[in-house]
Amino acid sequence: MLPGGSLTTAIVLAAGEGTRMRSAVPKVLHPLAGRSLVEHALRAVAGLHPDYLVVVIGHGRDAVEAHLQTVAVALGRQVHPAVQAQQLGTGHAVRTALDVLPGDLSGTVLVTYGDVPLLDTATLAELISEHHRTGHAVTVLSALVADPTGYGRILRDCSGAVSGIVEHRDASTAQRAIREINSGVLACDAAVVREALARLRPANSQGELYLTDVVGLVHASGLPVGAHPCRDPWLVAGVNDRVQLAAVGSELNRRLVEHWMRAGVTVVDPASTWLDADVQLSPDVVLHPGVQLQAGTVVGPGAVIGPDSTLSGCSIGAQAAVVRTHGVGAVVAERAQIGPFAYLRPGSRVGEGAKVGTFVETKNAELGAGAKVPHLSYVGDATIGEGTNIGAATVFVNYDGVAKHRTVVGAHARTGADNMFVAPVTIGDGAYTAAGSVITQDVPPGALGVARGRQRNIEGWVSRRRPGTPAAHAAQQAVGETTQQE
Ligand code: UD1
Ligand code: CA
Repeated sequence: MLPGGSLTTAIVLAAGEGTRMRSAVPKVLHPLAGRSLVEHALRAVAGLHPDYLVVVIGHGRDAVEAHLQTVAVALGRQVHPAVQAQQLGTGHAVRTALDVLPGDLSGTVLVTYGDVPLLDTATLAELISEHHRTGHAVTVLSALVADPTGYGRILRDCSGAVSGIVEHRDASTAQRAIREINSGVLACDAAVVREALARLRPANSQGELYLTDVVGLVHASGLPVGAHPCRDPWLVAGVNDRVQLAAVGSELNRRLVEHWMRAGVTVVDPASTWLDADVQLSPDVVLHPGVQLQAGTVVGPGAVIGPDSTLSGCSIGAQAAVVRTHGVGAVVAERAQIGPFAYLRPGSRVGEGAKVGTFVETKNAELGAGAKVPHLSYVGDATIGEGTNIGAATVFVNYDGVAKHRTVVGAHARTGADNMFVAPVTIGDGAYTAAGSVITQDVPPGALGVARGRQRNIEGWVSRRRPGTPAAHAAQQAVGETTQQE
């Protein structure tokens, strides 16, 4: 139940091609802060808990419909698609939606657009309660903007009452000077809008059935019509092209960053910090310049991220440090240290106080508490026990060309630099391996595994085989000096 009455139906228009995007992807599927434009629109209306939530789809129908199913699952509610085979205008789109609803639908219908992503539930709730309070047959959400180019303009009669809406392309010069614009969002009585939609005519420059003409028709029939101005014009900003997509995207980001700063996160450079809508940050997190936190990322108290790091679907524990890192689907425990220049791939689980250092890539790999992989290594399909140190330039050779295999290194082991662990292989607890070893057999606990050729030196080889070279001269000099010293 909303303040002032209930909302039965919400209709989201999302069938248009979005020609101005010049894209193979339907406009409403373009992402903004990790969610599609239409998901933003759906979340706003779903917050009002309407009995019916109908989305009008058409262009790119299959892709949009599949996406709607995912969003419906995320929202935990039903979303009904209504197919508008031909995009004959926003008025025709609403007709299409009403066609999938009960013929005797009554109560309030809310119409929003799939390309107005910053609109929030609170603003919609305000519109609905204003609609109910005034008893208008139609209430349009309007906004006063500095540059109204492209939007429909709200027409008011000499008493100030709303008398209609004129589209930018159909407006006279005088009408174009009007700065009160139509957001596209409106609340109306179900029976009134159904009747008015039936009377729409495509008498405009695009030859379409305009939803906006409903306002003039209802006004002319003598019923009261109103406009409720939205105080924050950004909330009603529509996305028609990629320039607007970027502008709305950067405003949404500015708001998300501000939200987290007010919740106790230090953001050193808000302009170069990009946060998806779906991230969770804790107090005293520090984000250095160039940080991008994408959907599903959760950061614990006091963790320091950046500079220049991108984390997607990662969980970062309290007090951890993540420096110049690219992470996807990784779980990093408290006080762990990542980077600089690390690549954490899905299935990476870095234990408490563990370290994944410089030029290290991990995938499907678990590091126990305090384990370290400090330098130049690939750790794929591995389990590394607590307190173990992996030498520099180690490769966990997990792929035999056909299948992936796992390497297990026990606790408190010390493996040498430049090792290859040819999986499947197991290194026991407290074992050592020698530098430069290609380990193909298990090393028992406490043993030293050595797997390399013995070194032999061939004395005088350079002066015999490379005479006259700088190397030979340097060697001669060194040998001479040694002889003199003796
Ligand atoms: C529309 C409004 C304009 C308003 C602006 C606000 C009309 C005629 N004009 O213009 O007054 O200022 O939004 O952003 O309503 N759609 C369909 N089926 C169609 C046509 C459009 O579902 O046949 C959907 C689109 O996918 C889009 C929405 O309706 O999500 C708006 O359509 P669009 O073409 O972007 O309208 P605007 O020109 O922006
Ligand atoms: Ca639009």
